[in-house]
Amino acid sequence: MGAFKNQRITKFLEMSKVLIWSLVLIVLVAADDYPLPFERDFPEVFRGQTSRSGEEVYRLPTNVLPIEYDIFIDLYFAERAEKPFSYDGREYIIIQALEDDVTQIVLHSNVDYISTISIFADGTPVPLIADKPFELVHQYHFLKINMVQPMLVGLNYTLFISYSSTMNEGPMKRGIWRGWYIDENDVERVYATTHFQPYNARQAFPCWDEPFFKAVFTLHLSRSTSYVGRFSNTASASVTALSSGRVQDNFLPTPKMSSYLVTFLVSESFQVIAEDKSFTPAIRIIGRSNAIGMGNHALNLAVKMTSFFDDYLQMPYATLNPNLMNDHISSPDWASAGTENWGMVSYRELHMFINPRETVVSAEHYSATLISHELAHKWFGNLITCYWWSNTWINEGYASYFGYIATNEMFPQYRFDDHFNNRYLQASLSYDSSASTEPMNHEVNTPAQVTAHFGTISYSKAASFLRMTVDIMTPETFRKANQYFLRTNAYEPTNQYDLYDAFMKAINEDMSLAPYSDFNFTEYYRTWVNEPGYPILYVNVDHSTGDIALRQTRFFLSPSATPTDQVYPIPITFSTKRNPNFETRAQYMMGVERMVVTKDAGEEWVIFNNLQHGIYRVNYDTHNWEMLASALKNDHDSIHHLNRAQIVDDVFALMRAEKIAYNLGFQILDFLKQDTSYYVWFPAISGFNWFRNRFLHLPEVLAEYDEILHEFLDAVITELGYDVPQNETLTRTLNRFYVLSFACSVGHKGCIDDAIAKYQTYRNGNPVSPNIQRHVFCQGILNGGYDDWAYLYQKRIDSNNQAAAVQMLRGLGCTTNQQAIERHLNSILSEEVKAQDRLNAFTFLFQGDRGNGRAALPFIKERIDDIRKGVVLAASFNSFLTNLASNMDEEGLVELEEWLQTNPIPEASVGLNAITSARSNMHWGTQNADVILTAARGSATVFLPTTIVLIASLVALFLI
Ligand SMILES: *[C@@H]1O[C@H](CO)[C@@H](O)[C@H](O)[C@H]1NC(C)=O
Ligand SMILES: *[C@@H]1O[C@H](CO)[C@@H](O)[C@H](O)[C@H]1NC(C)=O
Ligand SMILES: [Zn+2]
Repeated sequence: MGAFKNQRITKFLEMSKVLIWSLVLIVLVAADDYPLPFERDFPEVFRGQTSRSGEEVYRLPTNVLPIEYDIFIDLYFAERAEKPFSYDGREYIIIQALEDDVTQIVLHSNVDYISTISIFADGTPVPLIADKPFELVHQYHFLKINMVQPMLVGLNYTLFISYSSTMNEGPMKRGIWRGWYIDENDVERVYATTHFQPYNARQAFPCWDEPFFKAVFTLHLSRSTSYVGRFSNTASASVTALSSGRVQDNFLPTPKMSSYLVTFLVSESFQVIAEDKSFTPAIRIIGRSNAIGMGNHALNLAVKMTSFFDDYLQMPYATLNPNLMNDHISSPDWASAGTENWGMVSYRELHMFINPRETVVSAEHYSATLISHELAHKWFGNLITCYWWSNTWINEGYASYFGYIATNEMFPQYRFDDHFNNRYLQASLSYDSSASTEPMNHEVNTPAQVTAHFGTISYSKAASFLRMTVDIMTPETFRKANQYFLRTNAYEPTNQYDLYDAFMKAINEDMSLAPYSDFNFTEYYRTWVNEPGYPILYVNVDHSTGDIALRQTRFFLSPSATPTDQVYPIPITFSTKRNPNFETRAQYMMGVERMVVTKDAGEEWVIFNNLQHGIYRVNYDTHNWEMLASALKNDHDSIHHLNRAQIVDDVFALMRAEKIAYNLGFQILDFLKQDTSYYVWFPAISGFNWFRNRFLHLPEVLAEYDEILHEFLDAVITELGYDVPQNETLTRTLNRFYVLSFACSVGHKGCIDDAIAKYQTYRNGNPVSPNIQRHVFCQGILNGGYDDWAYLYQKRIDSNNQAAAVQMLRGLGCTTNQQAIERHLNSILSEEVKAQDRLNAFTFLFQGDRGNGRAALPFIKERIDDIRKGVVLAASFNSFLTNLASNMDEEGLVELEEWLQTNPIPEASVGLNAITSARSNMHWGTQNADVILTAARGSATVFLPTTIVLIASLVALFLI
C-alpha cells in the first residue's frame, strides 16, 4: 500500500492519534492453536508470541484452499439504464479440502446479490443442503456454503458462483469503483477500476480474501466496445465478441498470488502516456487522455528503479512470471497514494505528474520514494506476502526501506539516505513513545484494526528496524539474506519466522556477527518484532578514566508513565570530539540494561547513536550536554548534520518527557540561531510548533514566544533568502519551503511582507515558484480580501496539475473572509473537490485561522449529513470532527460543545473527546508557559510577573 493515505498532510495531528483498539486486552495463547496447516516448525523461542483475541472470528478457517479462479465480470456504465454502474459476475473456483470432515465452505463475499451457487467434483454436482444451501454473515463478510456430504481430501472441486453488484462511486470505498475526469474537449469521462488492498476483493467477487490464500486468477472482463482502454495485471490474450455491442477481454492467468493484488481498469480514453520498450514487457505509464507528456518523470523513475531491483535482488522482474505486465496507472482519483497490484501498479495522479515548473520539491521527493516503494512491493509483498496483516510490517517495512535506500543509489541528488531520518526514524520515535503503542508484529482481526495497522509502526518503525539491522549485519549480508528470503518463499505466504531464517542463514555464512561477542541476534529480532516501544540510552562519562557508563530503559513521552524492565538490544556507536568518526556500523551490541564502554581519557564531548541510525534516544550527563551545547554553538560543523538533527529531535522529546530541564534544553538548542541545515530545522520546526500549539490561547505568551522564534529564524532565513535560485540543491529548496512556511505562520515580518508582495505579483499574472507557493498563497489570502481569494479559487479550478491544485487548496483555507469561507465550504462539498481531498480541504481551512472553525459552524451544523457523505469513510468523518475541535479557539469550542451535547449526530462523542483534549492542550500550555518562555529567552533568572498574572486570569477564564 502506498504510504500514509490522506492523513499524511495532517502529520502533526496524526502523531497524537489514539488507537482505541490497541487498548483491547490481548489474550496470549500458544501458536499451536493457530489454524495454519502450512505453518512450519518455528524456533521454540518464538512460540507463545502469537496473541489472539475473541475477534479472531473475523478470520477464515483454513480447511479449504482455493487453487485457481476463473472470473467473468460484465461491466455496465450508463448503458444499462435500469441499473447503471453495475456489474454481473460468474466465477469458477477450483478448491481443495485439507481436512476430511469439511461440510461447510467459508469464504468472503461482499457483493450485493448472489443468485446461484453450485459445486462440482469430476463434473458431477455435489448436493448442497436443500433448505439452506448457503448463508451470509454480513458482519464478517462470510459466505458459508453447506454441503450434504463431507469433502474428500486431495480431490479438486469446482465452486461456481454467480452474482451481481454495484460499482462504488469514487475511490474511497475501494472494491470496484468509478471515477471521472474532464477531458481535453471538456467532456466528462468515466472509468472503472479496482482497489482491493487490504480486504476489498470480496466486493468484486466472492473469494478467500486474506493474503494467506494465494491462488491463480484468470479474469474475463466484458464491456461496451467504446471502452477501449482496458488494463489488468496480465495481458489480454484474446477478445471474444459478444452480442449487442459488447466484447470480452480474456486476460492471461496471473502467477499464484493473494486476492488483494488482482486489478483492472476499463475506460473510454485512458492510454499509454509514456513508455520504455527496452524492457520486456515494456514499462508503461498509463493515464487520462489529456495527460500525454506528463508521465516522463515517473517513467524515468520506474525504469531506473526496475533496473536497480533486477540487479540487487538477482531475480529480474521479467523472470517472475511471463504474463505479468509492467504498467503504472496514474489515476485522477485514488484512496491512498499508490497500490502495488502486481503488474499494474496504481497511483494517485498527484504523485505521478512531476513538472518542476509546477510541482513543489516535496512532491517530487515523495513521488520518487513512492514509485520505488511500489516497485519494491513487486518482490516484497507480491512475490512473498505476509500471511496475515499482523505482519504487514514485512511488506511495508521493506517497501519503505527500499523506497529511500534503493532510490538513493539511483538518484543521489535527492539525498534520501539523509532524508530517511526525518521521514521514518524520527516519525517512528515520535509515534512509538506512547504507552499504548503496538509492536510491529501485532494481532489484528477486524477491518478497522487491519486498516489501522497500515500506519507508522508498519512503515516507519519497520523501515528503521531494517536499516538498523543492516548496520549490524552489513549491507552485503543483508542483500544475501533478502535473496534467500525471496527464493525460499517465492509465491508463498510468509511471516517473520521465514525472514528470521533467511537472516540467520546469511549471517552464519558470512559470520557477520563475529565482531560482537555475546550478542544474541535471536533475542534482538524477537524483541524488536514482538515488543512495543524503544529505549532511551543514558550516558555518563568519566573523563578522567575514559569510562562511559551506559544504561537503557524504555522511553515514554509521558512523564507519568510506569517504567518497564524491557531491555532492547541496540547497536552502540559513538563519536567524540577527538574521534569524530560518525560511522554507522555497530561498534558494540548492547543487550543488557547496563554496560560500560571506554574512550581515551580527557575532557571532550561524546555523541552516541551516530547519524541517528539506531532506534533509540540518548540523554547525557549535564556536563556532556554543556560541552555539546558549546561545541554546537561555536563550531556546529564539527558535528555531523544528522547528529545535530538527532540532538534537536531528542532534546525536544526529553524536555516534553521532563527528562532534561527546559533551561538546559534551550541552551543546547541555541545553536539553531546559526545553523541553517535542513536536517536540523525539520525536527526543530515540529518541536517549536508543538509548544506553540499549546500557547495559542495565551496572546501575550504567544507574542513573546513568536519574537523568540524570529530570533532563531533570522540566520536561516538570511542564508536561504526569499527567492528560489537556479541550480541550488533540492534539499536547500526544500529547506526554504518549510522554513518560510513556518516563519510566516509565526508572524515573521520579513517573511510576511515578502509573501504579500509576491502574491500581488502572482495576481498580476506572473508565476511564483511552486517551492514558495505555500506561504505566499497563505499570506496573500490571509492578508487579502475576497478578490484575492477568488483569484486563487479560479486558478485551482483551471489547473491541470493535481500537485499544484492541492497547494492552492491549502492556500484557499487561509482566508478569514466570511464570504470566501462560505463559498469555500460549498465548493469543498461539490464536485470541485474530489472525495479524496475533502478531509484535507476542511483541515486546511480549520488550520488557516483559529476562528475559522467557529465561522464554519453554522454551515457545519446545517450540512453535517452532507459532510459525512462527502468524506465517505467513517474514519474520515471522525477525523473531520477531531480536526475541527483541535484547531478551534475557546469560543468556538464552547459553541461546538453546546451543539454536540444536544446529540445531533451519532459521532458526537468523538467531537466531545476532541474538545476535551484541545482543552487539555491549552491547560498544559497555561501550566508550562512561564518556565518554557524563561528557558527560551535564554535567561534562567528573569521573572516576568505580568505573564503570571495573565496566565492566572486565563486559567480563570477557560478552565473552570
Ligand atoms: C487440481 O487442479 C489444479 C489446477 O487446475 C491442477 O493443477 C491439479 O492437477 C488438479 N489436481 C487433481 C488431483 O486433479
Ligand atoms: C538467545 O535468545 C533467545 C531468546 O530470544 C533464547 O531462547 C536463547 O537461549 C538465547 N541464546 C543464547 C545462546 O543465549
Ligand atoms: Zn506499501
